[in-house]
Amino acid sequence: MARNKVTVIGAGNVGATTAQRIAEAGLADVVLVDIVEGLPQGKALDLAEAAPVVGHDARIVGTNDYAATAGSDIVVVTSGLARQPGMSRDDLLAKNAGIVRAVVEQAVRHSPDCILIIVTNPLDAMCHVAMQASGFPRERVLGMAGVLDSARFRTFIAQELGVSVEDTHAFVLGGHGDTMVPLPRYSTVAGIPITELLSPERVAALSQRTANGGAEVVALLKTGSAFYAPAASTFEMVDAILRDRKRILPCAILLQGEFRTTGLFVGVPAVLGSGGLERVLEVNLTDEEQASFDRSAAAVRELVGKLGD
Ligand code: NAI
Ligand code: 2OP
Repeated sequence: MARNKVTVIGAGNVGATTAQRIAEAGLADVVLVDIVEGLPQGKALDLAEAAPVVGHDARIVGTNDYAATAGSDIVVVTSGLARQPGMSRDDLLAKNAGIVRAVVEQAVRHSPDCILIIVTNPLDAMCHVAMQASGFPRERVLGMAGVLDSARFRTFIAQELGVSVEDTHAFVLGGHGDTMVPLPRYSTVAGIPITELLSPERVAALSQRTANGGAEVVALLKTGSAFYAPAASTFEMVDAILRDRKRILPCAILLQGEFRTTGLFVGVPAVLGSGGLERVLEVNLTDEEQASFDRSAAAVRELVGKLGD
């Protein structure tokens, strides 16, 4: 049986690390694309030369030419500028919109049936750009952010309680920005809501640290932003789709009335399988939680409004 094929656009930190994870898991052949000549070729060659040691047979190709991406099952878009210290995700809007539009147009020409996973920031707005540029239905345009934000929340919960990360589960919804919505009521340790295990003050502190998670790493790195956890999170979505796992993962999805929101990409729990988005999983929100979700959606709407047509 032929292996699946995944194209990763942007051979920078997130893109190359995502390519590494996919290839080293033997999940798919990978085509790494970048605008910089030599960069994707060099990284792909380096990754291919690790294969005998790691022990996998996935093919990894680096290119500046979209012809090599033809027939991809999934196209992951990481191309764009990353945040620098003092720079908000929103500052990236105009520059990255142009990049995402251009790469998506080229990619879908060669892979008209692919599923797009968008990573480039500002994430929710870039999903809108990708949807417009591709003309794809919402099932095939997914944004990666919620898996990362939830992973950060899980990390902090596990550290706080001194328990395995494996026994944690976290729910972070809303846009991928300062207004994201960690939901402590639905965040659990071995099935027990963290609101039963931690004081309201500690829950608030961990939620706040989660919302600030990207900026915390940027401030430490000083050049560039997080990429190990973002790549691991992207891999989880790719794996859920290619292996038709029906995983429930928080993703940016174009809402059509769910969570009282229409016509906007916002992070919500989504069932992912071979068709991409198979279903949005609606959960009951309290009035306060819905208000936080609405505030986050309003921030995304404002940003999308700045995109123009
Ligand atoms: P990076 O700077 O390491 O890599 C970006 C790559 O995109 C560079 O190699 C650059 O040459 C390439 N590129 C730029 N224009 C291109 C074009 N027109 N065609 C093809 N390639 C092009 O940045 P990094 O750290 O990999 O981050 C990538 C993006 O992902 C950023 O926008 C960042 O903010 C975002 N990000 C989003 C996360 C999320 O949760 N959604 C998490 C982490 C990063
Ligand atoms: C992050 O959350 C920069 O959005 C990126 O790390």
